[in-house]
Amino acid sequence: KKVKVAAPATVANLVCGFDILGLCLHDPYDIMEVELLNEKKVIVKSADGYPLPEDPALNTAGAPLLEMLKEVEDNIGFSVLIHKRIKPGSGVGSSAASAAGAVVAANHLLGNRFTKHQLVQFAMFGEKVASGVKHADNVTPCIFGGVTLIRSIFPLDIVPLSSPPLYVTVVHPQIEVRTADARAILKQQVLLKDAIKQWGNIAGLVAGFLKNDYDLIGRSLEDYLVEPVRSILIPGFDDLKKACKAAGALGGGISGSGPSIFMLSKEQQTALEVEQVMKDCYTQLGVDFHTYVTTIN
Ligand code: HSE
Repeated sequence: KKVKVAAPATVANLVCGFDILGLCLHDPYDIMEVELLNEKKVIVKSADGYPLPEDPALNTAGAPLLEMLKEVEDNIGFSVLIHKRIKPGSGVGSSAASAAGAVVAANHLLGNRFTKHQLVQFAMFGEKVASGVKHADNVTPCIFGGVTLIRSIFPLDIVPLSSPPLYVTVVHPQIEVRTADARAILKQQVLLKDAIKQWGNIAGLVAGFLKNDYDLIGRSLEDYLVEPVRSILIPGFDDLKKACKAAGALGGGISGSGPSIFMLSKEQQTALEVEQVMKDCYTQLGVDFHTYVTTIN
């Protein structure tokens, strides 16, 4: 038995919601082919020569499947073939897509015996392998779709959020930022005055999604805690953000731990104009880049 799934890219944090908010994109996506084996083991292979750790426990798709097998009594295993289309280290949940795609496909082969909630728990082991920390803000939207709030990780409490239609413009400057490095530079303490502004924005953003209030979504896309530290890793960040907003984007910021930057727009035409602004900024800076416009999936 064999199954093929598409595992989409995701935008974690949504600017103010570090580790608790995320959304699922239509494009790009990985293709994963998973086959049932009749012995208890996990094999992960890359279809396009992208180097993967041989030990499945050290692999973002393998580690979640090993966790899943601990909960399965049958003498079975999985062989995974990954067609990697989401560039690793680009900030749109490449490792999460491998982890989430693997568990969703494996669950299908097992007759869907696990809930989505359990699949997120397995998939988080892939994030642990990738970044050293079990965060769920990429794997959850990848598995649930749409916009998701992870109110708590321990215990896991997932709140899927409705949202109005939105266009997402993404620019990926061709540098690699490792999530582990982008986490290591963060400050461990925050000032109360900054925390107040931050939770005002998080509450505003969640309310904006639920009320289909585009202006409120735009006003709430500010981050006082993480972006000021991380943006130093991304060339031209402040100017690019200002220029995108001047072109009509509702707002945006670093996608996940970067280096990709995402901007939300109400209209497709605006999203395309924002894409042109991004192209102009990076062309002027002489930085290689890749851009695309997509929607929430
Ligand atoms: N919330 C995580 C971080 C997402 O910002 O480190 C990583 O993609």
